Amino acid sequence: MKKFIFISFLATGLSYGLEYNEDDLYLQAKGLFAPLPENFSISENPITPEKVYLGKLLFFERRLSINNMVSCSTCHAIEYYYSSPASKQMGALKLQPRNAPTVLNSAGQFVQHWIGNRKDVEDQAFQSLTGPAAFGNSNLNTVEEKLRKIQDYVDLFKKAFPNDPEPIKAENIAKAIGAFERTLLTPSRFDDYLKGNKKALSKEEKIGLQTFINVGCASCHNGTLVGGNSYQKFGILEPYWKYTKSESIDNGRFEITKNETDKYVFKVPSLRNVTQTSPYFHDGSVDSLEEAIWIMGKVQLGKDLSKKEIQYILKFLKTLTGDIPKDAMQPPILPASN
Ligand code: HEC
Ligand code: HEC
Repeated sequence: MKKFIFISFLATGLSYGLEYNEDDLYLQAKGLFAPLPENFSISENPITPEKVYLGKLLFFERRLSINNMVSCSTCHAIEYYYSSPASKQMGALKLQPRNAPTVLNSAGQFVQHWIGNRKDVEDQAFQSLTGPAAFGNSNLNTVEEKLRKIQDYVDLFKKAFPNDPEPIKAENIAKAIGAFERTLLTPSRFDDYLKGNKKALSKEEKIGLQTFINVGCASCHNGTLVGGNSYQKFGILEPYWKYTKSESIDNGRFEITKNETDKYVFKVPSLRNVTQTSPYFHDGSVDSLEEAIWIMGKVQLGKDLSKKEIQYILKFLKTLTGDIPKDAMQPPILPASN
């Protein structure tokens, strides 16, 4: 009997001072996080099947780039959960300055890009057309003219933007891609849990969730996306590069605002699907998720997390990995040039 109690203590993690109360934990989680909605449609760019269909084609369309070599999916690849395994990835003319995050769920963030220099996914797609580190077109007309010569696109844009006298234009390219991105949501077991199925997480995963909350991760990584809703300094207690061994130091939002207090400030990334999107941090300087968790504890919270704590947090983070929507699991066949 004694032995049995000892073993069950181990299994719940109590022997490491990690415990939770089922109902308290659920209430805390409900207060800090929220399940994903159906989609991220907005009134300025409502989701329609025609727009999403076209947007998916354009997401994989290398002819959007100046040299026909680069598409959105070059850096946001299905195989890598719509992210990139490279710390930095080459665009049509220039290397990207930072690591490519996943576009799954990204439309739900309060701003786009690590330093928030894109307003929303439509703005992001629009600016990619001419950005040298993305598609490198010298002006919008180049890419619009290219698409106008492909009859299938003429028809598809007409269907997607029936009331627009000039359907093929940069603004609509961005809207179609944006509409596609607004459908890329990946509900996971954590959503089932938040919606009331307390059995959706195992005991160990719940210890992980409780640890994530107790050590302070959820003070920044919270809300529907477990992040993606605020800016914070990376390296509150110590410089981040001391542990990430970053090759160069990124000033973060200071680059846009020139405000001293914005030095090393970045958007808090969403942790949904984080197990699938190595390497980590804005410069892709860290490959291992365990190491990224330890660094976070160290530089954001001043805590030297134990191996056990890291393992439990990792178990919780795994519950944030969801299913890619069926329509987005396969690349499309693209219209022929004619
Ligand atoms: C050459 C690689 C590359 C290409 C091509 C590219 N991206 Fe990205 N993408 C990145 C990188 C790198 C970032 C982060 C940039 C930053 O924060 O400075 C990013 C950021 C984003 C974000 C913001 C994600 C977040 O969490 O903040 C979205 C959305 C996105 N890209 C969508 C697209 C779309 C749509 C296209 C095509 C129109 C595209 N990207 C083309 C590399 C690329
Ligand atoms: C004070 C706010 C804050 C706290 C507390 C915090 N984080 Fe972060 N987290 C951030 C910011 C900001 C970044 C982006 C850093 C960068 O790369 O510029 C980040 C990045 C991450 C990343 C990398 C994600 C990616 O896609 O590259 C992981 C993983 C992470 N945090 C997990 C945690 C965990 C686990 C804890 C608790 C131990 C934690 N964070 C505590 C603000 C915070």
